[in-house]
Amino acid sequence: MNWLIHDYREDDLAAVVHLIDSTAGLGQESVFSLAECIAALTSRQPAVVAVHDGVPIGAALAQVAGAGERAWVMRIAIAPAWRGRGLPSALLRELERRLVDARVRRIAYVLPEEELLGEGLRNAGYERRPAAAYFEKTEPAAGSAAGSLEELGGRVLGGDLWEQVAGMTAEKDLIERRIVLPLAEPERAARHGVRPPRAITLFGPPGTGKTTFARAIASRLGWPFVELLPSRLADEGNLAAALRSAFTRIGELERVLVFIDEVEEIAPVRGEAGQGGGGGVGGGMHAMHGVTNELLKLIPGFRERDGRLLVCATNSVRSIDPAFLRTGRFDYVIPIGTPDPAARAAIWSRYAPALGRTDVDVTALVEASERFSPADIEHAARLAAQTAFERDDAEAGASTADYLDAIAASRPTVTTAMVEAFRADIGSHARL
Ligand SMILES: Nc1ncnc2c1ncn2[C@@H]1O[C@H](COP(=O)(O)OP(=O)(O)O)[C@@H](O)[C@H]1O
Ligand SMILES: [Mg+2]
Repeated sequence: MNWLIHDYREDDLAAVVHLIDSTAGLGQESVFSLAECIAALTSRQPAVVAVHDGVPIGAALAQVAGAGERAWVMRIAIAPAWRGRGLPSALLRELERRLVDARVRRIAYVLPEEELLGEGLRNAGYERRPAAAYFEKTEPAAGSAAGSLEELGGRVLGGDLWEQVAGMTAEKDLIERRIVLPLAEPERAARHGVRPPRAITLFGPPGTGKTTFARAIASRLGWPFVELLPSRLADEGNLAAALRSAFTRIGELERVLVFIDEVEEIAPVRGEAGQGGGGGVGGGMHAMHGVTNELLKLIPGFRERDGRLLVCATNSVRSIDPAFLRTGRFDYVIPIGTPDPAARAAIWSRYAPALGRTDVDVTALVEASERFSPADIEHAARLAAQTAFERDDAEAGASTADYLDAIAASRPTVTTAMVEAFRADIGSHARL
């Protein structure tokens, strides 16, 4: 939808008060009074405002209570013309994110009840007070689970990482439909007989955004993100045992996205273990089989519970033991390739602020950066900005020539041979 949601600022006050006040008669009344809402806003309680064409069209505000573990959603006000378009849930999601960042664990929303009481009570001198429908949501990372999350080095990723994934619309769309929505709306999925995925593998050349997607999925779901680093687990001595205890801790978390990068090192094709730069993993082929087997044993238990997703990533899907990736263990095996021209344009715009300069020819940059990964574009854009900075002339920012020079100087990481191999891997390994 074409609105922007930002944190409440002081100069939003008049508009937000007007929204709250003018929508009170439209079934959007609240158990909190306008005065209480204003008091919350002026004391900088968490609040978000949706804006369309510079005009505020909705607001959501909360009040953190007591020791800060609980918050009340005070009001979600939507301009009449914008009702029924999903704005309330977008606002609530943004508000919840602020609250989770502020370490709030329980969020409550008290809705006024519909007109249910009869005339009788009123006639008997009773004053009608709205009864309450009480909705409560418990956020993850509570009590001992918080300890487990910390020990695992995991955390809830703030910010809107999903929106920050530029371009890549085909991959984004697929991941949204297959992964995010069934996990975010399990009841709706169940109604249609869809079982939410529990484990996926992302594969593709380096720098194409596999890690970025894994983090974005966690951010989008609002789930804690835990990365298991085989090299770090191996420091504890026995990698298989370390893996087992990590999964025990993971089991204590209410919701979690577990990320394993370079998974081919943990589950290599049989007979290839220990080769190809296992880095700190060590232990040779025999030990590696033990680790692969351990992970294979752990996945079924992991799959049994709701609220979890395992995301594995690899630059070399053909180096993974085929048995490891089979259906039943991994629901989807998704290719993430180098960006197409449209995606490159989006990524250029994300990393090159000077593209705002009217004379920069984005099309030329897109054409010149074929096979560039998002990481390559990020690097080239930084190089061009640095050139402009060092020149420091009247015209601020990099020019088309600066960008083209940077592109020429940086060469794509992904070779044509890698593109060929990736295409072949899609044929042999992808499962969508
Ligand atoms: N779609 C994208 N939009 C913007 N930046 C991206 C995108 N994909 C990747 N990046 C950036 O490129 C860099 C490399 O991405 P990463 O996810 O680490 O690649 P991979 O895990 O596939 O090797 C990161 O700095 C990331 O921010
Ligand atoms: Mg990565």
